[in-house]
Order: sequence, then C-alpha cells, then structure tokens
Amino acid sequence: MSLQPATQDLELLQRRVSAVMAHMNPVVVELGDVFAAAGHQLAIVGGPVRDALLGRVSNDLDFTTSASPDETQALLDTWGDAVWDIGKEFGTIGAKRFVKDGEDIVVEITTYRTDEYDPTSRKPLVAFGDNIEGDLSRRDFTVNAMAIRVPELEFVDPFNGLADLAAGFLRTPIEAEKSFDDDPLRMMRAARFTAQLGFDIEESAFAAIVAMASRIAIVSGERVRDELNKLLLSGDPVRGLTALVDSGLADHVLPELPGMKAASDEHNRHKDVYSHSMTVLQQAIDLETGPEGAVPGPDLLLRLAALLHDIGKPATRKFESNGTVSFHHHELVGAKMTARRLRELKYDKDTVKAVSRLVELHLRFHGYGDGAWTDSAVRRYVTDAGPLLERLHRLTRADCTTRNKNKARRLGAAYDSLEVRISELAAQEELDAIRPDLDGEQIMEILGIKPGRAVGGAYKFLMELRLDEGSIGPEAARERLVAWWAEHSQDFEGTRTYEN
Ligand code: CTP
Repeated sequence: MSLQPATQDLELLQRRVSAVMAHMNPVVVELGDVFAAAGHQLAIVGGPVRDALLGRVSNDLDFTTSASPDETQALLDTWGDAVWDIGKEFGTIGAKRFVKDGEDIVVEITTYRTDEYDPTSRKPLVAFGDNIEGDLSRRDFTVNAMAIRVPELEFVDPFNGLADLAAGFLRTPIEAEKSFDDDPLRMMRAARFTAQLGFDIEESAFAAIVAMASRIAIVSGERVRDELNKLLLSGDPVRGLTALVDSGLADHVLPELPGMKAASDEHNRHKDVYSHSMTVLQQAIDLETGPEGAVPGPDLLLRLAALLHDIGKPATRKFESNGTVSFHHHELVGAKMTARRLRELKYDKDTVKAVSRLVELHLRFHGYGDGAWTDSAVRRYVTDAGPLLERLHRLTRADCTTRNKNKARRLGAAYDSLEVRISELAAQEELDAIRPDLDGEQIMEILGIKPGRAVGGAYKFLMELRLDEGSIGPEAARERLVAWWAEHSQDFEGTRTYEN
C-alpha cells in the first residue's frame, strides 16, 4: 500500500512524533507500566513507528524489551487476554488485549536482539542483547530503526531515521554489507519499500545490493515469494521491479524479467519487450476495479500475468527473411516458463495454474480481427478463460501499448465488440436453458394426444407461461394446460388422440 509522497517536511514529522506520543493508547502505556514495575524497558519499534509517522495507525504493535522471553511471557500473562509463544525460539511472545470489536490490541514483544545470521544458512541465529541501541542497529533500515519507549513516551532514533523518513531514503543503520549479510532478504525488502513507500535506496546501500545480489540465493523461495508479493501488491510495483532489475537482484529471483531486455518487439517500436511489459503491468493495474468491481485491486494474478505475459519472447524470437522479427508461439512457451518460475518461487498450485493460463491466452483475442469469430469461437474463449475471464479482458486490453492512436482505438473497439458478443451469448444461453414446467411427454400424457402440431402449440403456451410468470410447478402448470386445451383444442383440428 502506498502511504504518502516520498518526501516530507522534517518539522512536520517532528510534530507528528509528539502527536503520536500524546495520543498513545492508554492500554499500551499500561503495558509499559507493567514492564517498568518489573524493572524492564519496553518500546514500540519498527514498522508501527514508521507507519504512525506516515499517518497510518495500526492496532498491531511490535515491541522490543530488555526482558527475556520467559519474563515477557510472565508479564504478558498479567496484561493480555490471550498470550502465545510460537515465536519464542526467536525471542518473540505475542498477546492480545480485548478492547472492543475492531480496537483489540495485538502486541508482539521481542527481547533485544543482536541477531547474527550464519551467512551459509537459511536459518537466523538468535543472540539476545541488553540495550535498545544495539537492537535498533541490527535492523534493516533507519526508517525501521526508530522506537518509542513506554511508559516514558521517549522517542529513540539513534540513526536519524526521522530525517531519512523525511527525505524518503532507505539507509542501513550499520554498514550495508554487514546488514545484508545478516539477512540477504533485506535487499529485496529495500526494493519492496521503494514500491510501497516511494522511497529511494541510498547510494551505498544500493551499491552493496549490486555487489551482493547473488547472496539472495541462500534465502528460501517462500520468503522471496512473500517479499515479491508485497512488492507486486504495493502502490507502485513498477518502481520496485525496476529496483530489482537495476540492482541485479532480479537476475537471481526472476531472471526472465531482465531476460526480456534483450528481445525487441515485432514493430521495433518499444525499446524492448521489458519496458513493454512494465507498461502493460501499469495499464493492467489501472484497469483493476474498486472493491465491488469484477477485479478488485490489488490483484496478484492479474499483476503477475501482466508482468510475465511476454517472457516467452526472447526464446522464440526469429529474424524472418523479409526483415521482420517474429515470436511464434511465445504465449505457449511463456506459459510453460511462467509455471516453472512460479513453482520455483513456491507459489501454490492454483496461482501457478491461473497465471500461466492467462499468459497462454493473452494473444487469443488477436484472432478476433474485426469481429470475424463465430459464436462457437466466442464461447470457446469464454470457456477456456473460465473464472479468469474478467482478468483476461483486462490483460488483453492492457497489452496494447502502441503509440498509434488509431490502432489503439481500433483494438479497443474490437475488444468492446467481443465483450458485447460475450454478454449477448450469455443472455441467449440463459434463455436457452429455460424450460417450461412440463415436457412434451407430459403434455401428451395429460392431454391424451399423440406427437403433432398440438404438442408444439401446448409447449409454446407453457413456455410463454414460464417466461411471464416464472416457474409455477408441475401441478399448477397441469391445470393451466388443461384449461388452455379446453379453449384451443379446436384450433388443432385433426389432432390424433390415443383414442383414434
Ligand atoms: N526487520 C529487519 N530485517 C528483516 C525483517 C524485519 O530488520 N529482514 C525489522 C524491521 O525493523 C521491521 C521489523 O523488523 O520494521 C518488523 O518486521 P516486519 O513486520 O517484517 O516488517 P515491517 O517493517 O513491519 O513491514 P511489513 O509488516 O509490511 O512486512
């Protein structure tokens, strides 16, 4: 989620610090009192402080403390209505205090850390520290290394995070190489925060990412995926992806993305397939709908599909003898590459299937031309897209980045006409599915007549009845049919009955 414009007035932020402290929830101050009475320090830290200063207040709060995990657990037992210890191995105890619906407070309290990561291992090594500055120094970025002590309400900012927040800078509290060594995922977090907060990565931190990008390989696919999702679901994914590509991180987590830089498109109009893909992603995002709409944003499937729809192009590029470039079947090759990459990133089966399906179908519409599809081709398009149809509409429309206004208008109008055909067919099919309350066999049995014109007439009467009044059930339909027949049987002179 995009929060605020990248740069802010420092004085305004300073005033916000005071305001956040002045409006501190009394239940939180009370928690501080509990820790202070036991001789321990407690402070809100990290994301909630950063977000509060950016004007976004949450009831989920992270704290850091001098108390050991056991001591924290004992103190939380006296304050919370529910306490959990699933993060205890890493020094974290969680608790919830019921206030009222929507205002309950959830806290996670972690003992001061000086956590070192074994550079060769995926698992963090946890070492507890004894002061807040040490804890803050081991955090990823200065904007995440600010704290507010409770109950004292003292702002702790040893690394000038507030100034970086004002300037919109992501800077590491300690030497960047050391910080990224501690946890290489932080390099991806940097890219994610550029997308989420509109910030820039400070020069030396960026240089460290460029130098250390390959270290991301030791991070598990699941953590990389979760970070990529946050980036893609942010307010400005293109910015975050650009940081991933420019820093070289993408070469390791999503190599197909920089891989597209090499392949130029059919018309050589776009600098490369890569920048086309970024434009398509942005256009697809612009076509997402509000909460009530068909594709409420942010939509991960649409965004992944838009980003990856052309990844099959470099592998299928062919220079034709007439001097043009072709990418035959790039949608099929791309769908396979998409599935492979998403599986590697540990996406679940449904996501892999849906995104690769969208990639596979993204070109199908281009056979539509100026409306030449038969009804059965339109039906097949709808069936093949299945539940992805609304996303496919948006992906296909977004995939038009031509600067030729007439061509863009033509394509848009052709797609409009396809959507009209789809709804007309759907309406027709709904009508086709409507049946009278009695079928031909029943009509013949009730009226005692044999197959012939009268059965058709009766069927038509019952169909009209069904359309006018909805379903009235077989009993009522039988009565109405008999009444209708009493009036109309003479219209069907010569009707064969079972008697003759
Ligand atoms: N942190 C860190 N290094 C990481 C992950 C987290 O230093 N690899 C620190 C940061 O100080 C961060 C805090 O732990 O603010 C909480 O982490 P997390 O909840 O993952 O991040 P948030 O900044 O709160 O952002 P989000 O909740 O959007 O992930």
